Amino acid sequence: MPWGKENALPRVLITEQEVERRVRELAAAIDHDYAATERLICIGVLKGSVFFLVDLLKRVTIPVAVDFFQTASYGASTSGGEVRIRKDIDLSIRGQDVLLIEDIVDTGYTLRTILDLLRFRGAKSVKLCALLDKASRREVDVPIDYCGFQIEDVFVVGYGLDFDERYRNLPYVGVYEDRGGHTHP
Ligand code: IMP
Ligand code: MG
Repeated sequence: MPWGKENALPRVLITEQEVERRVRELAAAIDHDYAATERLICIGVLKGSVFFLVDLLKRVTIPVAVDFFQTASYGASTSGGEVRIRKDIDLSIRGQDVLLIEDIVDTGYTLRTILDLLRFRGAKSVKLCALLDKASRREVDVPIDYCGFQIEDVFVVGYGLDFDERYRNLPYVGVYEDRGGHTHP
């Protein structure tokens, strides 16, 4: 049992093929919208966005630069309002077009914090591309310019998303269920 003795494979929510198809569509939209852009700075949020970012940017044909933030929340597993920047980006973004790439928007605090920071630093434009949108959980407004899928309020894993660092390398998006059938850890 490669995924561990006690846990069955997470139930499929979005198949590998569905993810692949949607990623192609998002890449085409980004190509179209930024056709006149000299260089698009694409910024991922570690670690969850990595699988999505790589697949997406392989499909994009405009010139890009890639950089990463890593964030952490104080205390609980979700952000609860206060977001810490653990790793900053290396590139200067003043006067640049920036596309932020994230795995999931949940409460919105992580993205709100990063979007505000990028604007404060003088980015020419900032847009957000998120694979998953858990809109029912939103606490602060975060406009998603390119959204992969809307999902219900369930805890998801796979395609970069983890539960306690597990399941990131599942090729699909699945629902994490503990042995009591609860979908939140
Ligand atoms: P926020 O609540 O929008 O600030 O999201 C914070 C972070 O929580 C996301 O970037 C994810 O890393 C993580 N997260 C939120 N919901 C889920 C989920 O369903 N599965 C795995 N990670 C999640
Ligand atoms: Mg994340």
